[in-house]
Amino acid sequence: MRAVVHDTYGPPDVLRLEDVDRPVPRDDEVLIKVHATTVSRTDSALRAGQPFVSRFITGLRRPRRRILGSDLAGVVEAVGSTVTEFKVGDHVFGINPWKFGTHADFLCMRAGGALAPTPAGMPFDEAAAVCDGAILALNAIRPARLRTGQRILIYGASGSIGTAAVQLARSFGADVTGVCRTGSIELVRSLGADEVIDSTQEDFTKNGRTYDAILDAVGNLTFSRCRGSLKPGGVYLATDGLQNLVLTLWTARIGDKRVRFPIPPKFTKQDVVFLKQLIEAGKYRAVIDRRYPLEEIVEATRYVDTKQKTGNVVLTITDNRWS
Ligand SMILES: NC(=O)c1ccc[n+]([C@@H]2O[C@H](COP(=O)([O-])OP(=O)(O)OC[C@H]3O[C@@H](n4cnc5c(N)ncnc54)[C@H](OP(=O)(O)O)[C@@H]3O)[C@@H](O)[C@H]2O)c1
Repeated sequence: MRAVVHDTYGPPDVLRLEDVDRPVPRDDEVLIKVHATTVSRTDSALRAGQPFVSRFITGLRRPRRRILGSDLAGVVEAVGSTVTEFKVGDHVFGINPWKFGTHADFLCMRAGGALAPTPAGMPFDEAAAVCDGAILALNAIRPARLRTGQRILIYGASGSIGTAAVQLARSFGADVTGVCRTGSIELVRSLGADEVIDSTQEDFTKNGRTYDAILDAVGNLTFSRCRGSLKPGGVYLATDGLQNLVLTLWTARIGDKRVRFPIPPKFTKQDVVFLKQLIEAGKYRAVIDRRYPLEEIVEATRYVDTKQKTGNVVLTITDNRWS
């Protein structure tokens, strides 16, 4: 089968298509023919080996996992001997965190992992773009325990995590303010944001408004900058920055405003099923910026590396000559 592999850390050019052995499912696994996947910011960071400290986990001298990609949508090709939940031919979607490997024609995944039947009528390319951003957004906003009428500000509302967080916070009944650049304002409004702030025109930390929760879905805000925009008892939700781990512990004991940075994030079947139900109820859609065929992985990755994508970048896998 074909897979996108990399043997060194570096720029997108280190990625190349290679013919590799098709994996064989263990007793509790399913073999999935991948029809679509995504290139995420996690894929970019792993490929680049950045931040450097992450190499203590991903491989100090060279990457331990040669094949990246965690989002997936496809068809069950074979099942292990103890699998009862899926059968050959089922359309499935989900995410294979930590093990990766979806940038390939086939992938083996535990049937009990973050995998579920595809939402009714949803094409593979749309289903593939659902899980990474949405489950990271769920991890980030859950500690805020949002209730009807509470106010959340989402900074970076047009990215993969941001577009998901806007819709999820709305579905929890919160009043949502999105912050993004001019070109994404209409999109963020269309996702259900009650208010959208143009970050090129207005600094939300200086407009006097306060929120129950502030989500940094870009990774370049700080708690100290946002503290004045939080209501008493408010919570700052981080997606990046090791200093936020220290601040999580510090603010749990001192002061009336907290920092929460759920790391490592959890990816569960329960969350995939929750998203499927939300989609089927018409309350969630994955935002897709661009689609590339697998063969154009380097171009797709270069675009993700710009940090300017809107929502998600999908890879479609249709040519199976080498399957
Ligand atoms: N905790 C985790 O496990 C985990 C996993 C993956 C990613 N992350 C982190 O989560 C963050 C977002 O990830 P993502 O996948 O949603 O990213 P993304 O899809 O690349 O979105 C980034 C968005 O941020 C905005 N942006 C880019 N540069 C900006 C800047 N200098 N100032 C303000 N806004 C800027 C852009 O929107 P506009 O152009 O409209 O402003 C863009 O749409 C990243 O920091 C990433 O490191 C965390």
